Parts: sequence; structure tokens; C-alpha cells
Amino acid sequence: MAGSRFPDGFLWGAATAAYQIEGAVTEGGRGPSIWDTFSHTPGRTLNGDTGDVACRHYDKLDEDLELMADLGLRAYRFSIAWPRVQPEGKGPANQAGLDFYRRLVDGLAERGIVPAVTLYHWDLPQALEDAGGWTARTTSERFAEYAAIVGEALGDAVGMWTTLNEPWCAGWLGYGTGAHAPGRSGLASGTAATHHLMLGHGLAVEALRAASSAPVGITLNLNRFIPASDHELDLRAARIADAVLNRLYLDPVFKASYPEDLVELVRAGGGDFDAVQPGDLDVTSRPIDFLGVNFYSTAVIADVSREAEARQAGYVVAPVGARDANAPFGVRQVGRADLERLATGWEVEPEGLTDILVRLRDEYTRGPLYVTENGAAQHDYRGPDGAVHDPGRISYIDRHVRAVLRAIERGVDVRGYFVWSLMDNYEWSLGYSVRFGLTWVDYPTGERVPKDSFHWYRQVIAANGLTGDA
Ligand code: FCB
Repeated sequence: MAGSRFPDGFLWGAATAAYQIEGAVTEGGRGPSIWDTFSHTPGRTLNGDTGDVACRHYDKLDEDLELMADLGLRAYRFSIAWPRVQPEGKGPANQAGLDFYRRLVDGLAERGIVPAVTLYHWDLPQALEDAGGWTARTTSERFAEYAAIVGEALGDAVGMWTTLNEPWCAGWLGYGTGAHAPGRSGLASGTAATHHLMLGHGLAVEALRAASSAPVGITLNLNRFIPASDHELDLRAARIADAVLNRLYLDPVFKASYPEDLVELVRAGGGDFDAVQPGDLDVTSRPIDFLGVNFYSTAVIADVSREAEARQAGYVVAPVGARDANAPFGVRQVGRADLERLATGWEVEPEGLTDILVRLRDEYTRGPLYVTENGAAQHDYRGPDGAVHDPGRISYIDRHVRAVLRAIERGVDVRGYFVWSLMDNYEWSLGYSVRFGLTWVDYPTGERVPKDSFHWYRQVIAANGLTGDA
């Protein structure tokens, strides 16, 4: 395929999240979050890595703004650390926390970069966790209060708001399987946390609308699930995986319901959806202005009783991993040996992104979509020439950008694309073991080195599309 241009005004961006880059966890009056607690608990993260120092972004704000200007970014997606704004998750704002983000949004505006702000990228104030965390309904109300504070403080300068980033990770991995902070597990806590996150989302939409005229949306991590065979059990397993990752979050936002098939399964497993009170689904489905989609890979799904058949069909059946989040429902992800994989083990299949964007248009929303995260985990290193050569990342992003363009050609209203990530950072329970950045970070010193992909992406932005062949 030859070079490809995007619609005028297409928003080229890069993304980060507070806990993954800021460091300075005790500075400026910041309170502890569940990720501080979790990462400091032995055995929870690889090598015991924490975000205590991370990329030192809190101290290097000006340098990072220059980095973004140098990249030519049109938009920068970042998250606000709730415990910087409300150290204990309630009550009056901590001015030093708001001041930091004011410097950031003003610095972006000066450079012509649209601030795309996420309110919740998983760093719940620990004090709220101590009061029940997302399994407590009051946390949804606290979240709306926090949204109002941020909306009022920064609303004049923010270009777009995202309430939650990936409620599946925050709710299902955090409270269902325990792979993420706060590390609680069980069907009951998983579903309660999920519902209170979605309720919090709806309440925050209302709070932001009252305070700011910028568009408001939510970011979901979505995936395409392919059944391992056309056997009825594998088809069912793929539908369950789709329910847990996709429909559990899309339906309350766009259809004011939770997926019936999943509700039944949860009940059969001894859980419930009793957290849902009358009227709640009207709140979760408050109209939004855009949907953000985070996409990395696709997955083949088999019923757990059909592992032998999956193996015979050539799939790799690995031991159940921490992220095998559907294990409670007898659903297994199986691997394709022939596909390229990221350093996280995720399979690379860009067509899945086109499919998801088209499906969203067909089944959920005609409203604008943004790819709010997409990027490649690798084990990059700095070569003897001092540079970081990452052709694999360039190829990955190139193919996914083309996948976005194919969706646009099919009439889907995709308005922007954000690379994960602007810089290497703390990858949650994987610590510093993998790198996603366009910029290499030398963790001991904090030095930043733009990688080859950085220079390549700058050209993509400047040309509003890709040049040359895929
Ligand atoms: C997403 C998260 C983001 C980052 C990428 C790799 O699930 O939103 O913070 O960890 O994965």
C-alpha cells in the first residue's frame, strides 16, 4: 500500500499515566494510592519494582514539555493523580497538586498541544481503599467530587476529558483476579467494583459537564476474540471472553444494561450484580462525546475442557497466567505460535483494530472514536552509537495506523490516534521489565533519548499520515 493521508485535523498524540511516569510520590502533599501500597507489597510486582521514582516527570516537567514540542505532538494524553489533588480522596483540594497540573496544561497550550486529561488511571487514594475501595458505592460519589474539583480548576484549558482509563483493569484485575492493585479477588468484589466504576464514570460525566465545555468520554480496552474452533463450546467461550472484556463496559455506557449472559454466569458462580440500584444504569449511560479505545492485540479463545483439541489444532496452551482473567468461567486464551509477539507476550494482529472500530460503529456508537492507546513493548537498549534503534516498534505502529485508516475508509469516525507511550515507564505489575516508549529513559539518571520511532512518528505527524509502503 502506498502512502496514506488522514483527514484534516486528525489528532496525533502520545499517552502516559501519572503513576507510571511522575515519581515524587511523597512530594507536593501527595497522599498514598493503592498502587503505592500494592507495589510495595512483596511478590506483587516483578522485581518488586515501584513507581517511587519512575521517570521523574514531576521534576522534569519542563524538559518533557520540550520533548513533546520536539515530537510535534498535536495532543498529549496524561492522567491526573487523584491523591495529588485529594491526598485522602475527599475534602478540599490540595493546591500544590492542582498547581502541578496547571503548569502542565498551560505548558501544553503554549506549545499548541491539546491536553487530553484522564481523571482515573488506577491510582485510587489508599484512604478510600481503606473505606472499601471501589466495592463501596461511596467511592463513586467521591470520584464525582474529585471530577468537579479538577473540572473547575482546569476546565478552561483542557481539550478533552476521559473519566476512566480501562475500567476492566481497575475493576476486574484489581478486585476480581487480584493481578492489579489493590489485589483483591473474587466474583463478588469484581462485579461490585466494576459497577461502582461505571457509576462513578456517569457521575463524573455530569460533574465535568457542569464545570467545563470540553468533550467528555471514557477509554475502554477492547479486544477481538476468535474462537479456537467452531465447536459450540469454543464459540461460547469466545462469547464469554467478549462479555467480560468488551460488553461488560460497553453495554452500561451505550445500552444502559449489563450483558445478560454474563449476569447469569456470575450468578451461577455464586456472585451477583446486586450493587446495581434502580436508576444507576441511567447514570452509567449518560451521553458521552467520544469513546476512547485502547488496543494492543487479539486473542484466540477455547473452552477449558477442549485444551487437548486446541493443542492438536496447533495452538499453544500455556499455564493459566495472572492476566488470564476469564479463568473463573472455564475460558482459556490459547496462543498462536505463528504470530509475532510483543515483549509482554501479546500477539500482534493489526486487523483486529480495524474490526473493533467497525464493530463499535455498527453495534454501539456513531459518535467519534479515538484510539487512545496503541504501542509496542520491547526490550530496547541503547547501542554503541548512543542511539536506540527500534524498527520493530516503527513497524508495529505503522501497521496499526494503517488499520485505523482502513476503518476510516469504511466510514468509521476515528478522530485521533495516541501512541503508548511518550516515554518508557513503569509497566504496572511488570515493573520496568518492558519498554513501550518513543523515548528511551535511563532510569538511574532520568536521561531521555528519543528512539528511532520518535523521529519516525514526528514525520508521520508532520505529513498527517504515512509515507512509503507498508
Ligand atoms: C494499558 C494501560 C497503560 C499501559 C498499557 C501498556 O492497559 O492503560 O497504562 O500499561 O496498557
